[in-house]
Amino acid sequence: MSSSTPAPWWRTAAVYQVLPRSFADGGGDGVGDLAGLRARLPYLAELGVDAVWVTPWYPSPMVDNGYDVADYRDVDAVLGGLGQAEAFVQEAHALGLRVLVDIVPNHTSDAHAWFRAALAGDARARARYLFRPGRGEGGALPPNDWESCFGGPSWTRTTDADGRPGEWYLHSFAPEQPDLDWRNPEVRAEFVDVLRFWFDRGVDGFRVDVAHGLVKEAGLPDALGRDRRTEEHPGWDQDEVHEVYREWREVADSYDPPRVFVAEAWVARPERLPLYLRSDELHMAFEFEPLHVTWREGPWRRVVERGLATAALTGAPSAWALTNHDVVRQVTRYARTQWPERGSNESERARWGTEEPDLALGRTRARAAALLTTALPGLVYVYEGEELGLEEVEDIPTERRLDPIHTRSGGRDPGRDGSRVPLPWSGDRPPYGFSPPGAPEPWLPQPPGWGPLTAAAQEQDPDSTLALYRCALGLRHELMAGPLVWHEAPDGVLAFARGTTVVWVNFGPDDVPLPAGRRVVLASGPAPDGVLPVDTAAWLVPDEEGSR
Ligand code: BGC
Repeated sequence: MSSSTPAPWWRTAAVYQVLPRSFADGGGDGVGDLAGLRARLPYLAELGVDAVWVTPWYPSPMVDNGYDVADYRDVDAVLGGLGQAEAFVQEAHALGLRVLVDIVPNHTSDAHAWFRAALAGDARARARYLFRPGRGEGGALPPNDWESCFGGPSWTRTTDADGRPGEWYLHSFAPEQPDLDWRNPEVRAEFVDVLRFWFDRGVDGFRVDVAHGLVKEAGLPDALGRDRRTEEHPGWDQDEVHEVYREWREVADSYDPPRVFVAEAWVARPERLPLYLRSDELHMAFEFEPLHVTWREGPWRRVVERGLATAALTGAPSAWALTNHDVVRQVTRYARTQWPERGSNESERARWGTEEPDLALGRTRARAAALLTTALPGLVYVYEGEELGLEEVEDIPTERRLDPIHTRSGGRDPGRDGSRVPLPWSGDRPPYGFSPPGAPEPWLPQPPGWGPLTAAAQEQDPDSTLALYRCALGLRHELMAGPLVWHEAPDGVLAFARGTTVVWVNFGPDDVPLPAGRRVVLASGPAPDGVLPVDTAAWLVPDEEGSR
């Protein structure tokens, strides 16, 4: 890139993540849809984001919240179908918003035509998946010892046409999500075609689901107890996966403007992540540590340093996110005793019922965290409802929970539904304007008490979390230019500069005096008389810069 070429939009974007079924219900059936999303596009433009990422909108039996795709070239009728999606892309573009959608290449739904044909015995269709004979007498044992990410074995046995037990197929997630065989050229060709299908419809890029998982180690050897999340596992992160992304990058670059990819890539060894970010592969990868890091200064500093080091090494911008549809919302994470360094999805969810969350404290910290991440170099992803300060809904009745993590754990793990509850837009009781009047109850129950958190209520309040996000997103392009430079600060305070703007985040136990010669331009809570209270963040500009 020459110095006169402007940086592409995505290098510094704020991207808003939408779960279409939980965002807004236009059709009045209790399920969010694209009509609802289209009607709320002005809200997103006003929030100040640059792009919208829509999680899977394809036809799906919804075993895993749409990450079980039955047809990659269509949109679920419940959401309004393909025509609604095309209208949405055009309207978003007219408002200056880019559109990213999810691509789910590791697995299809078991309702996908390919898998149905495979089960019916079509040899060519079977070769697109990972069918293997079982081990042991009569093939009664799974082909290897891999565990599914959702619990239980990674293999399900099929029944042959004559009614006898047949081969097994691999599923890294639920049994309804059979893994594809990415060593099969037909699979590769199919997804190139799918990418083009959506790029031709104006989609600006894709979030790549389980980007590290597509290719498995040849021969599918046993994992010998290795943990998929923390150790090298033969089901993840094989060198051959990079051939896939080199091919995809050529496709993305053949468009004007070039399209982009953001990877969901979990790697056991941090030095493997930059491989996905080579200049002829994916454009960026999510930083996952902020989803679990504890609310403390030292751990946060290490997280930021590691992210910036990866960016420096690869030239890819850091993609920061405080939360998403897979983790406990940050208000609730910060509302309980903080881990020494970091927690995990499982450890956070295990705290439900064991320690009452102090939600007011969690909200105060979440607001400070927002001023921290929106100030960092790179992109910031905002998950729907975090701008309203929503907490995790922890008391969804068992019979209403849908996440396979919940069902497959025998109910021990509450699963991820609590972060996916439909948004509150207005009013003081469910459905809080999520659906039009007369609609059935939203597909996941909303809690009582969200009246003050609705978008309409917060729009009236200049001190609301919504107002804070609007200010931060509105100012960040202007105020957060230049590399991050660490500053000295009192104990417990994380301090850095971006150009002439200085950011202080007080994680410590005491209020601290703010630096002299600077004025607070934005603070996450009251910061009277030159003091930065505990659990508060502030953006500071030199005194002489004009007032806002
Ligand atoms: C998605 C999850 C999903 C899993 C399987 C993850 O990366 O974010 O929501 O359950 O992939 O597709």
